[in-house]
Amino acid sequence: MEKRFYVTTPIYYVNAEPHIGHAYTTILADFLKRFYLMRGYDAFFLTGTDEHGDKIVKAAHEKKATPQEYADRISGIFKAAWTEIGIVNDDFIRTTEERHKAVVRKVLQKVYDKGDIYFGNYGGYYCFGCERFLTEKEMVEGKCPEHNRKPDYIEESNYFFKMSKYQKWLIDYIKAKPDFIRPERYKNEVLSILENEELEDLCISRPKTRLDWGIELPFDENYVTYVWFDALINYISAIGYPDDERFKKYWPVVQHLIAKDIVKPHGIFWPTMLKAADIEPYANLNVHGYWNMEESKMSKSLGNVVRPGELIKKYGNDQIRYFFLREMTFGLDAKFAEDSIVNRINFDLANDLGNLINRTLNMNKKYFDQKVPVFFPDSDAGRKDIQEKFRESLHEYINNIENFRFSVAVEKLWEFVRSLNKYIDEYKPWQVAKENKTELLSSIMRNLLEAIYGISVLISPVCVEASGKIWAAFGKKGGHDDFREIESFNLLNDGDNIGDPEILFPRIEKETSPVQEKEQVQVKKDTKENDTEGLIDIKEFLKVDIRVAQIIEAEKVEGSEKLLELKLDSGIDNRTIIAGIAQHYSPEQVKGKKILLVANLKPATIFKRKSQGMLLAAKTQDAGELNLIIVDDRVPVGSRLG
Ligand code: MSP
Repeated sequence: MEKRFYVTTPIYYVNAEPHIGHAYTTILADFLKRFYLMRGYDAFFLTGTDEHGDKIVKAAHEKKATPQEYADRISGIFKAAWTEIGIVNDDFIRTTEERHKAVVRKVLQKVYDKGDIYFGNYGGYYCFGCERFLTEKEMVEGKCPEHNRKPDYIEESNYFFKMSKYQKWLIDYIKAKPDFIRPERYKNEVLSILENEELEDLCISRPKTRLDWGIELPFDENYVTYVWFDALINYISAIGYPDDERFKKYWPVVQHLIAKDIVKPHGIFWPTMLKAADIEPYANLNVHGYWNMEESKMSKSLGNVVRPGELIKKYGNDQIRYFFLREMTFGLDAKFAEDSIVNRINFDLANDLGNLINRTLNMNKKYFDQKVPVFFPDSDAGRKDIQEKFRESLHEYINNIENFRFSVAVEKLWEFVRSLNKYIDEYKPWQVAKENKTELLSSIMRNLLEAIYGISVLISPVCVEASGKIWAAFGKKGGHDDFREIESFNLLNDGDNIGDPEILFPRIEKETSPVQEKEQVQVKKDTKENDTEGLIDIKEFLKVDIRVAQIIEAEKVEGSEKLLELKLDSGIDNRTIIAGIAQHYSPEQVKGKKILLVANLKPATIFKRKSQGMLLAAKTQDAGELNLIIVDDRVPVGSRLG
């Protein structure tokens, strides 16, 4: 069978503007779509907006707009937000669209004709936040735990869906297909409801006298359908149930993505509705946790909403996508802190991946004039070992993504990235160059370039922009759906030109979060301007490239009492500096030490010798004693300070 993939997000209520919680689910869906496309699947990605129901009417009323005007406006804001952050969905469904309403009526009629919808009287506690009746068990101290408010008691005559009829079937189905709802904790949550409570039938209508902003029932014009019955059907209406080619193609391979707030409607209402309508159940329900700001959930009412567009403007698209995937263990809650974003960018992206690419391309520029060097099978450049590591991390990456363990998947790939940095430190291409072992140097560089290209393909669903830039530099287009190709480590052509290296992930100075920024503005206003006289701003400081270098050789400069000539490994090259430390250190004392090097100083001639940079040392107050700043051995050579 042709490989097919269909991913959905919840359709978002239009009573609030998009925030990063919505963006997380949507970015995840976008990532999955790109991942499966890359693997040669026919992939489809659906998102949209949920526009009927009490909440929307209330929100529209507050803004003095009709529900339709209001829904049009907010739905447009969602669409624009997704475009702004580079989301490429295949369709966007709105529940007020005619194509959707027609399918809802069709399904209602089918289930009604089957005898699974009946008219009755019901009184219960309704939470307008959840848009559903809560059971006694679900309430905590008489309140809805999700919205922290008392639900309203509502009693009226309505239509009911015989959900209870399918309770036993659903229990058996979930047990027979253990990953139907995943991760396991949510499967257990659903099973525990199903096994310990008698399901009540689902009230699926609202009398028009109370609410008319909904889809009219096909069998009673005095009623509109209940918002969840309406909303869930979007997953099949968008792809043209029952006759459209898209429905035939993408149902039931669908992967639903939701957060833990809406497990019950998706885990219980939806499969029983599908069963009653004689439609096959979805493939998997995938449930993630919440992003929490500090200790509380992010929500409009709490006023701590972060807008996706703003976040991406501040940190970059690839950076936020990487952060989302790496930082949240799928299924568990995660803390949203800008500090953690900055750490991920500086450590994983700038230090590990960025540094690897930069070092490699710079060395290749220096040694091979930016041409892809030849691999010599007889040279001892450790290819077997890197290739094996690559193969392992590639399989771990794919397997973990397929099982929705994104943070593990990404970490596995980064283990490989880090191992390549170690490979450079071990093989020391600059040393090999000095020893004129051209074939070995050529093979080392080719290994690195093939590995970087392979990584750029694998990360392309995450770091969309960066991989595009790497491909442009390599004159390639990615797109290897057969991964055996990239495993082969033979995708580059001898002698091809490689473009200029570019800083893909600039380091970010640790700054303040938006909330703190406001406070800082306040402080600035109160400070007199001349208090900052003589100070430099951070941008100026960051121009200085200070990095960890290792002293490989040291000797006294003949004819000078003060100077030592030091040969350094800077992580990007071998260089010589002349340092005025001879009265404080003997050559033996400094050999092998890791020190801090100012790497982007203009070269100077000292005692007729060229000095390429300066090392950092601390002087005592009276300048009598001088101490080199020695760096801990665990810090890799080439790491930048900042
Ligand atoms: N309209 C319903 C869904 C109907 S689907 C048939 C709805 N809409 S919603 O606007 O409230 O969106 C809820 C979804 O937004 C969550 O399931 C999740 O995907 C996302 N998130 C909202 N806040 C979130 C966090 N704080 N953290 C992570 N995801 C969050 O429910």
